[in-house]
Amino acid sequence: MEKEILRAARFLEERMDAPPLIGMVTGTGLGDLVEAMEEAFRVPYEEIPHFPRSTTEGHRGNFVGGILAGRPIVALQGRFHLYEGYTPQDVILPVRVMAKLGIQYLLISSAAGGLNPLFFKGDLMVVTDHINLTGANPLVGPNLDAFGPRFPDMSTVYPADLVRLVRREALNQGIHLREGVYAGVLGPSLETPAETRFLRLIGADAVGMSTVQEAIAAVHCGLRVIAVVAITNVNLPDCMGQTTLEEVIEAAERAGPVLAALWQGVVAALPS
Ligand code: HPA
Repeated sequence: MEKEILRAARFLEERMDAPPLIGMVTGTGLGDLVEAMEEAFRVPYEEIPHFPRSTTEGHRGNFVGGILAGRPIVALQGRFHLYEGYTPQDVILPVRVMAKLGIQYLLISSAAGGLNPLFFKGDLMVVTDHINLTGANPLVGPNLDAFGPRFPDMSTVYPADLVRLVRREALNQGIHLREGVYAGVLGPSLETPAETRFLRLIGADAVGMSTVQEAIAAVHCGLRVIAVVAITNVNLPDCMGQTTLEEVIEAAERAGPVLAALWQGVVAALPS
């Protein structure tokens, strides 16, 4: 696995002038964030050695590098999910490749269902902590000692100073920002009312099918993580509405420009 990661990193390094400071992962309907970048290169996943390929509707598969808000950045336009059948190691391979390229921050965006009854469709939520309910962990198997420790500490996956930075930036831009705990589930089926009640009871504010694997892998290799999710639908156990992929994509696309503006401000303000 380590050899594959290094080979993919070397392939991408040849396209770069300088090591990136920031890596970004964009999700369902949120790929347009990348359009705000001053793009230096763009490589389809198929061309990168050992990269998985993305299959889901609404996900494009490109590795993009360039400058955003004056900072060198690489971005995954389209991510890999466990529910597509990828192994947890496949899902996080791009994160490890970006770590090898030298990033210090991983910025994650995704779509999520709201569980907190105060949330509305279209809200943005900065993640303060997560609950991994996927039943998988990308660090299972022999530890890659060159990347990080066998038992990485998870007490501060989403560092408080970075949450504060996002909050401050949202305030500057007049964006109403929620914050809370993200529950990561396997999917692809959505939650039943009983599951939704359970998730709320255990302290989750939003639920989604990505983010946690990437965050765990990022912490393992020493990256500082920020995650902001777009609430694309609201799930209340006592009055569950139906949720469709179209609704999720449409709501994410509507939140996209606001999220892009927030990320630009955050990127500009990150300490180097
Ligand atoms: N549940 C799980 N994942 C999701 C949802 C949801 O309601 N909405 C967007 N991703």
